[in-house]
Amino acid sequence: MTVDWGGIGPELLLRLDRSLPEPLRTQLLAALRDAIRSGRLRAGERLPSSRELARQLEVSRGLVQETYEQLLAEGYLTSRTGSGTRVAAVHSDVEQARVEPEAPAAPRFEYDFAVGVPDLGSFPRADWAWAVREALRTLPNADLGYLDTRGHPELRRVLAGYLRRVRAAAADPARTVICAGFAQGIELTRRVLQGMGVRRIAFEDPGYSDHTVVSAMSGAGMEPVPVPVDDDGIDVAALAASGAQAVVVTPAHQWPTGVVLSPRRRRELVAWARDHDAYIVEDDYDAEFRYDKEPVGVVQGLAPQRVIMIGTTSKALAPGLRLAWLVCPPALTDALVTEKLLADRGSPVIDQVALAAMISSGRYDRQLRRMRGIYAARREALVDELRTQAPAVGISGLAAGFHAVAHLPAGVSEADAVAGAAARSVGVSPMSAYRADRSPEPPQLVLGLGTMTERAVRIGVRRIADLLAGARSSGVSRTGR
Ligand SMILES: Cc1ncc(COP(=O)(O)O)c(C=O)c1O
Repeated sequence: MTVDWGGIGPELLLRLDRSLPEPLRTQLLAALRDAIRSGRLRAGERLPSSRELARQLEVSRGLVQETYEQLLAEGYLTSRTGSGTRVAAVHSDVEQARVEPEAPAAPRFEYDFAVGVPDLGSFPRADWAWAVREALRTLPNADLGYLDTRGHPELRRVLAGYLRRVRAAAADPARTVICAGFAQGIELTRRVLQGMGVRRIAFEDPGYSDHTVVSAMSGAGMEPVPVPVDDDGIDVAALAASGAQAVVVTPAHQWPTGVVLSPRRRRELVAWARDHDAYIVEDDYDAEFRYDKEPVGVVQGLAPQRVIMIGTTSKALAPGLRLAWLVCPPALTDALVTEKLLADRGSPVIDQVALAAMISSGRYDRQLRRMRGIYAARREALVDELRTQAPAVGISGLAAGFHAVAHLPAGVSEADAVAGAAARSVGVSPMSAYRADRSPEPPQLVLGLGTMTERAVRIGVRRIADLLAGARSSGVSRTGR
């Protein structure tokens, strides 16, 4: 896209040196030719009006007009009534590729059970526009300056209330820190834990093994250790045996198996942290979307001294917002705030106040209710279609969020299912990608529903049902979790 300045003159950095013997007109001609040839000024970009440029350069308007006329004659510029003087397409030395707009990436699959992405088409644009306007209307000038590193007080207040109400968190504004996504939250946490001498940090397996989080930790000199997950969540006995001093968990809806950490395991996990003077990092990424069971609160509510909780708007609203929060244990709050200060001096304030307005006006809850209904219908479509089209395939992980796990019958390989589906333009993810040892056994697929309409879910399943079901039924259980 070229810059169009509408009625106002664009700023243009050109220097004229009055100490040189060359006349100013010669200098201006050379400077403009050079800016066009070097690509500083791109084809189609508008130049300031002669009046405006004359003002900026403190020369006469006639001198600028003469210069523009000369460049028009040379073909560097074009001029049409009503559209001003613009850079012509011909004279840039810059490769065309640099000035071409990037083509949008073509979707990889016609039906893509992509994981991790919510329904971006359902982002509440009108509500967000209202919230940004509201933020700009109400924000005192002083709040546009450098703020408390933890974030805008209004968002921290509103968010802490929301987390207490909806997630049963032991949240208070003083220990809530706004950050740029889970990604930044975990990085700040890594720095603090490492600074305290933590070296070995446990991750759920399957879990983030495909994820930049684990490689970032090892790249920074930590030692990530995988700890198995079973139907009750992370195996706490194995965690204790691992020698880890901290663990990252997804208790409400384990990523990616979708199991819920059982009440007994929650107690064991908290006891482990207390007994080992260890910390739990709780990734509460998609728990707002919970369907068929009693809502589960965060582990942080049970052990606020031992848990660093990280929540995000990436699933509830959109990853592009880059808005998330840390609820810090008292002993680590100052260190986490210092890391946030060193990282970026605080998150963008207008977005923070907009999120606060979304929450306090009830629009955030309304959006969650709406999306819960949409995802629940997609989930039903998936279960129903698999039941009728591929009854040998088990399905689990559906209690919350918007992804599920398909258990393939014995004899059907993950790799074959993924490749076969891709050949039919259906995208599915192999569970092996999330296992620490990349084992393809037992064969399972992770199916995301964020970007699939109900109709797309049904067509997608029908297209690949025979690949998933294999030749014979295996009797894999349908756990409904
Ligand atoms: C397990 C898990 N947690 C959290 C997130 C959200 O990360 P962020 O808030 O940085 O977008 C993701 C994103 O896909 C995820 O897979």
